[in-house]
Amino acid sequence: MNKEDMARRIIVALDVGTKKDALTLINKLEGVEIFKVGLKLFTAEGPPLLDVIQNLGKKVFLDLKLHDIPNTVGDAVKSAVRHGAHMLTLHSSGGGEMMMRAVESAFEAAEKEKTEKPLLLAVTILTSLKNEQLEEIGMVPDTIAQVFRLAHLAQKAGVDGVVCSPQEIEILKKELGKELLVVAPGIRPSWSDAHDQKRIMTPGLAIRKGADYLVIGRPITEAPSPQEAFMKILEESADL
Ligand code: C5P
Repeated sequence: MNKEDMARRIIVALDVGTKKDALTLINKLEGVEIFKVGLKLFTAEGPPLLDVIQNLGKKVFLDLKLHDIPNTVGDAVKSAVRHGAHMLTLHSSGGGEMMMRAVESAFEAAEKEKTEKPLLLAVTILTSLKNEQLEEIGMVPDTIAQVFRLAHLAQKAGVDGVVCSPQEIEILKKELGKELLVVAPGIRPSWSDAHDQKRIMTPGLAIRKGADYLVIGRPITEAPSPQEAFMKILEESADL
């Protein structure tokens, strides 16, 4: 894979609290096409920020991990489409009906707005949950089995892909097929600190294992030069 293709697969996480800090980062990262806006930034700045990011020619990965009754999630998906989200997350534990409604709503809204349907990505089991916590909430205390079960349900409901830890990329692709997109956070180049991430993988290896997109935050955003860190990642991972 060449550097251009690699660049298109890197999503930079804007884990900052203000529009000002988000724009500072975006302006430092010329070659990055997609930026992730999560709960922290979205609850601080709201939809107007999404318009600002898109006016800079960038795409938005809106990571709100929607989880509610089907009608409410469907309406939220429609709003996200109106605000031009390119990618959107939802919790697969919300159930098959909720995910199906999300998919239908995404198609409907995209047609109405004459825009592209966003890629819907299902979150399976949060990486902060271990078997012990699954038991606590009445789930079968087997993280991997639950990840499979939920990823399968998500695929049946028609979502475009799943968010998963780098360790699960290969097996999910193998079990569920290449068409299901896999988005992986927990990515660390060899020269970067692991921070609080426990199960990490280098960008090159994650791509080789089959990831379609990588979510990278601190190795880029906290580097002395974010642009240099981004370029270094491209150089190390491209042309594998
Ligand atoms: O700074 P870092 O590269 O660890 O950031 C990774 C991003 O991916 C953060 O926004 C984090 O919330 C998100 N994420 C994650 N692990 C998951 C799901 C999302 O690190 N399982």
